[in-house]
Amino acid sequence: MDWTLPCLDEDSFKKLGVKLADYVNAGVVFSLSGNLGVGKTTLARAIISQSCNVNTDIPSPTYNLVQSYESNSNVELWHVDLYRLNSLQEVLEIGIEEALIDNCCIIEWPELIEQIIPSHSIYIQLDFQDRNSSSLSNQRMITIKTSNPIMTSFDGLYG
Ligand SMILES: Nc1ncnc2c1ncn2[C@@H]1O[C@H](COP(=O)(O)OP(=O)(O)O)[C@@H](O)[C@H]1O
Ligand SMILES: [Mg+2]
Repeated sequence: MDWTLPCLDEDSFKKLGVKLADYVNAGVVFSLSGNLGVGKTTLARAIISQSCNVNTDIPSPTYNLVQSYESNSNVELWHVDLYRLNSLQEVLEIGIEEALIDNCCIIEWPELIEQIIPSHSIYIQLDFQDRNSSSLSNQRMITIKTSNPIMTSFDGLYG
């Protein structure tokens, strides 16, 4: 299954995060790819604030690699940012293999662990709206691809 969602402003991003929060469950992996500043953390925050009880600001895990939350469905949700890591070995040290199975994971910069990411992950590619625009533009395009059957009910942003 795949979906292309063009022309998303920041509010639409938040709406998408709320929709994706329905799929937070053990073993579910959201793999967020895209350049710096495209909105991976923004989308992750929207998923987290909808699916977990968080009263404080949701920090970006760029420096401490993993932020862990308890989801409303009692699953541990990991928000992981691999930007500052250099090897698969370093990622294994944070316990990612167990987390991919037992927890729900939202992973920014997942390319480093491509080999161990489950094939049923929810792959989300974020892009600036057109190649010539930059982070100065507020429009984004998102492509979602997955073979995970839990997404069968997903019907885009307004479905
Ligand atoms: N349509 C949009 N969707 C998401 N973020 C947007 C959008 N338009 C502007 N922004 C801004 O772009 C930045 C995205 O930053 P962030 O989510 O940290 O990106 P990343 O984690 O991909 O590096 C934020 O400052 C956000 O306010
Ligand atoms: Mg980020």
